[in-house]
Amino acid sequence: MSKKPVGAICAVILLLVSGPLAAQEGIATLRKGTPLGEQSAAPIMPKVSNQDLLRTRNYPEQPPTIPHSIRDYRVDLRSNKCLACHSRKATGETQAPMVSVTHYMDRDGQFLATISSRRYFCLQCHVPQFEARPLVENEFVDIDTLLEK
Ligand code: HEC
Ligand code: HEC
Repeated sequence: MSKKPVGAICAVILLLVSGPLAAQEGIATLRKGTPLGEQSAAPIMPKVSNQDLLRTRNYPEQPPTIPHSIRDYRVDLRSNKCLACHSRKATGETQAPMVSVTHYMDRDGQFLATISSRRYFCLQCHVPQFEARPLVENEFVDIDTLLEK
């Protein structure tokens, strides 16, 4: 018998054993070493970043992240706290940036007099940021950086 099949079988066994082990190790790192069967201590809740400074968008169509706290801001059928500052009518008084014109367009690109229902629930797309360290490294590269190369 040639040695090849034995080698192949060994390789398969090694893969079968090491695959799940490696995966488990990866998860264990995110869980800060707590074994999978055990409950880890709840992490401390990070602070909301509330610096009131607009952040650079990673690409033009990105919904900008919210640079202020939104604690207790209600958005439901009856009221929309966000629009109390960001609607066309409110911005003169609040000096908040107006929601962009796309927020007044229906799905056919027609302009409406009031905010489109597609854009009513702001937090579907816009989110505040937290002062927390990312769990995994982000390797995103901005298009301008790519163009320079
Ligand atoms: C009290 C007024 C007020 C309310 C209420 C408010 N905002 Fe703002 N928002 C502002 C102001 C002013 C700015 C400009 C930056 C700053 O001062 O924080 C801003 C900035 C933003 C930006 C950044 C825009 C950009 O171009 O980067 C987003 C997104 C945003 N708000 C979303 C929201 C959402 C979603 C809500 C509701 C959950 C909300 N805001 C509620 C006043 C408000
Ligand atoms: C379906 C996703 C979606 C929803 C829902 C949505 N937005 Fe946006 N928003 C975007 C995107 C995408 C952009 C950037 C591109 C654009 O202007 O359309 C944006 C841009 C903005 C800007 C920056 C405008 C500018 O010209 O600089 C503000 C402020 C904003 N949104 C506020 C809001 C508020 C307040 C609500 C809720 C009433 C809301 N958005 C709901 C996706 C959304």
